[in-house]
Amino acid sequence: MGFRMRHFLTFLIITSSLLIGLPGLALSNEETPLAMDAPAADATTADNTVAPKDDLHLGVASCAGSNCHGAARPYQNSSVVQNEYTIWNREDPHSKSYAILLNDRSKRIARNLGLPKPPEASKICLDCHADNVPVSLRGKRFDINDGVGCEACHGGGNRYLGPHVSGEVTHQQNLDLGLYPTEKPEERAQLCIKCHVGDQERFAIHKIMGAGHPRISFELDTFTEVHKHLRDRYRLPET
Ligand code: HEC
Ligand code: HEC
Ligand code: HEC
Repeated sequence: MGFRMRHFLTFLIITSSLLIGLPGLALSNEETPLAMDAPAADATTADNTVAPKDDLHLGVASCAGSNCHGAARPYQNSSVVQNEYTIWNREDPHSKSYAILLNDRSKRIARNLGLPKPPEASKICLDCHADNVPVSLRGKRFDINDGVGCEACHGGGNRYLGPHVSGEVTHQQNLDLGLYPTEKPEERAQLCIKCHVGDQERFAIHKIMGAGHPRISFELDTFTEVHKHLRDRYRLPET
């Protein structure tokens, strides 16, 4: 089976199981439109199949050094290309996703929903437009303005940051220290779906769309190839 086909099947399986689970949740939300603004329930106690306990999120600034992931050009002799921050910052819409909450369209959506607070202060918006981990998981350099930052996808870096910089640990050891397995298609699909389809904690999609939110469409290609900071990796010359 081809690479794309396998990813497509994963996508179908995960989406269908999600959709089956959604109607009940959507209904229960009907009565309490603002329930999303309540403090976050602890995802780990609610459903331990969703996410393992997260680590402290150190913030994008902790990944952005020019010797780390902020290289101006892709490195040729490194296991990773190291310009991931540069690409994310310049070209990846995830880095602008918080800023969007400040625009007029966002204000209108929030008004239509009757949110008591502006979008950038509303949990319902922040859950998808930023790395909205609880305050207790935000390190000193963490900045909510960074939007969907590295750790929103790669997991809180508190335990893996040091070891992974040392270069002396295996990928498996990094995973054991909290790095999210983005390379695994199922796990990656779950990660993207959280915000691009919605999940148990972010399920108000039909409601926000009624309020003027753009349609959220998610396709196979988005899962597998669009992630912008992989672009340069694909462009590296064949060796
Ligand atoms: C379930 C996750 C989710 C929630 C909740 C959510 N958004 Fe979004 N939002 C997205 C995604 C994903 C996109 C990008 C859609 C696309 O282009 O594929 C987006 C796009 C947008 C856009 C258009 C961005 C652009 O580039 O023009 C605006 C404006 C917006 N959201 C505002 C809001 C506001 C305000 C809230 C809170 C009321 C909110 N969103 C809640 C996921 C979400
Ligand atoms: C929207 C989710 C998302 C965000 C945000 C994100 N990444 Fe990634 N990242 C991924 C996925 C998915 C992969 C692909 C994994 C694979 O195929 O092996 C990846 C791959 C990587 C890799 C290994 C591949 C390579 O050579 O580039 C590194 C390093 C990386 N990301 C660093 C970062 C850094 C640093 C940031 C923040 C500036 C960041 N990522 C932001 C999802 C994300
Ligand atoms: C924490 C929530 C979150 C996660 C996790 C997430 N995204 Fe996004 N993504 C967003 C939001 C919000 C936007 C819209 C940002 C904007 O318009 O500026 C977006 C935008 C995008 C876009 C641009 C869409 C367009 O129409 O321009 C792509 C592509 C994308 N995401 C792919 C992915 C992939 C692939 C993954 C999983 C590896 C992922 N995202 C994980 C929230 C998320």
